[in-house]
Amino acid sequence: MIYELSNPLTKSLITQLRNEKSAAVLFRHTIAELTKQLLYEALKDFPLSEKKMMTWRGEESFVALDEANIFVVTVLRAGMPMLDSVMQTLPNATAGFLAMQRDEVTHKSKLYYDRVPDCRGKTILLVDPMVATGGSLLDAIELLKRKEPLRIITLNIIGSPEGLERINAAYPDVDIYISQIDEGLNAEKYIIPGLGDAGDRAYNTLS
Ligand code: PRP
Ligand code: URA
Repeated sequence: MIYELSNPLTKSLITQLRNEKSAAVLFRHTIAELTKQLLYEALKDFPLSEKKMMTWRGEESFVALDEANIFVVTVLRAGMPMLDSVMQTLPNATAGFLAMQRDEVTHKSKLYYDRVPDCRGKTILLVDPMVATGGSLLDAIELLKRKEPLRIITLNIIGSPEGLERINAAYPDVDIYISQIDEGLNAEKYIIPGLGDAGDRAYNTLS
């Protein structure tokens, strides 16, 4: 399932990301805001369990999300502001890290770091802002599937129709929550209109 957000605030924040004048600090902040919106949508069918606690009236039981069953996996480096945003909201979730880089010539992603703890039977929120060819996300999902999680949900900010369809076709059981589906890709496999290179925009490495 591909679920695209339609809130006017989402559209407005995406426009802010596209603005070249949005400095790195504002860019990361905006990514974090958009991530919260995606998270609220993605959590809407999550089960709640009873939790006993002391309240002002004595011991009582109330519902809460079981954060211990949620693993947030980020794809470095552009996924970092998204991980921070989710971990602020779900401080007891577990974080995992994958490092990938797209080859500038072949446009294929290369994995060079996997620090995702044992997530068998857990729900994974996989965060990466950009889905261009879909290669990076596809590789990340393939790797995570081998770890036998219960479910994988992706949170993404901007995607191309072709990249998203590629993932949906390969992994129809993965739920994709995305802020904005753009027009397509250019010859260099950048998303159009997109926002350029998200990692460079977030961390001031534009040359
Ligand atoms: C970006 C982005 C995705 C990937 C998307 O990372 O964060 O991981 O590109 O492209 P794809 O769908 O064609 O694979 P990039 O490789 O630019 O690394 P960075 O985050 O370090 O800038
Ligand atoms: N990676 C990005 O950061 N942006 C794109 O448009 C494509 C890949």
